[in-house]
Amino acid sequence: MRSPIPDFLDETLNRHRSDRSGENADYIPDLAAADPEKLGICISTLDGVEYTSGDSEFEFSIQSMSKPFIYGLALEQAGLPAVLDMVGVEPSGEKFNELSLDKKSGKPLNPMINAGALAIHSLLGEDGSSLAERTEIARSGLSRFAGRELRVDESTAAGEWEAAYRNIAIANMLRSYDVFLDDPDDVVQGYIAQCSVLVTVKDLAIMAATLAGGGLNPITGEQVLSPRVNRQVLAVMMTCGMYDAAGDWMTEIGIPAKSGVSGGVFGVMPGQVGIATFSPRLDRHGTSVRGAKIFRDLSNRLSLHIMDAPEPARSIIRRDRRFVGNNGEMVRICSLQGLIQWSGSENVIRAMDDPATSTNVFILDLRRVNEINGVARKMLTEALSRLKEDGIRVVLMDPEDMMKCKGPDSALPDVKILDSLKSVKGLKRVRNDRRREMADRSV
Ligand code: DON
Repeated sequence: MRSPIPDFLDETLNRHRSDRSGENADYIPDLAAADPEKLGICISTLDGVEYTSGDSEFEFSIQSMSKPFIYGLALEQAGLPAVLDMVGVEPSGEKFNELSLDKKSGKPLNPMINAGALAIHSLLGEDGSSLAERTEIARSGLSRFAGRELRVDESTAAGEWEAAYRNIAIANMLRSYDVFLDDPDDVVQGYIAQCSVLVTVKDLAIMAATLAGGGLNPITGEQVLSPRVNRQVLAVMMTCGMYDAAGDWMTEIGIPAKSGVSGGVFGVMPGQVGIATFSPRLDRHGTSVRGAKIFRDLSNRLSLHIMDAPEPARSIIRRDRRFVGNNGEMVRICSLQGLIQWSGSENVIRAMDDPATSTNVFILDLRRVNEINGVARKMLTEALSRLKEDGIRVVLMDPEDMMKCKGPDSALPDVKILDSLKSVKGLKRVRNDRRREMADRSV
């Protein structure tokens, strides 16, 4: 079968190809000269499959889209407290290159605006690292997200440095407030080199998929960021990544994203996909016009808004049946399915705790469960222990060892473990048991 996904992407690009609104960024000569007709998209899955359309091999500078990744590398290197001590996590509601610091703390408001990104760049490497060393740490670090060796485009960097008055002013402001002690010009040049790393939409989609997969690069298998740092990066990106358009972006499109003045945009759907688009003409916020429209389309047509409520936990309990054994014992078989998180485990525990049902043997059937997260495993383990304390015999059907002890505080109680229901012989199904029991009581 020919996958319909590339056709869907072709069609999505074609809907917006004729939109020529907006302008290329003009303060960096190479960006002003970029072909404004270029248009490309790539969606990467978490196992590294890339669906592309349009100019997906075309290279452009990463610009501000480098900021979340460099923030993640700095967090891994210096640790969360040290980084938070230097740069806050509050949305600024200002343009990306505003000369601003938090009034109370004197810190940059967040790492997505230039003030924060310059400070974060100064953290790379040992104290007092040279411009060349920091540039290499940024380039090689970004390459680890992309899964291939990226390079700095010297022409883009030189052009930006020629007119970097605003960033030099911001860096001098940071130096004067002792946010960093390095030479401000070096920090700006290093940051410009970081922004001048060349990527394609395919690279960006893999980089985004790395964030979507909890920091795990889907191509190389490298855990580039720890899950905790990855979460921090995504949270900050979601709230601050689109600067003074962050609220509009999150409410209308709802895909945590980051844009760059080269015309790239990448978006991250945690646990699902990484998406990247490229089209050079920008809106007044510095975001690609066609990129934003394509993201809006994808959000609507693929239901990718992060705040769209997921399937409710009701689907966790596939069946909850009661049987009578030969010896008159009441046996209850509760069969679960899907992914069990905290809310799903609450649902199961509520069913276990049903006061209207008398049970001698409780069988928890996990054969159709795909995954149980840590907190749900802990909750269910505790609930099974309590059932046992209440004198109920507990049996687990867990051929994939979903409930196996993964830590000291989640040790399973001593329960019988079955591989199939064939071994539970001689059971007679009790139908409409709840209704009958209620009727019995009222007699
Ligand atoms: O700091 C700058 O001016 C650029 N090199 C990067 C700016 C950027 O991409 C802003 N994002 N939309």
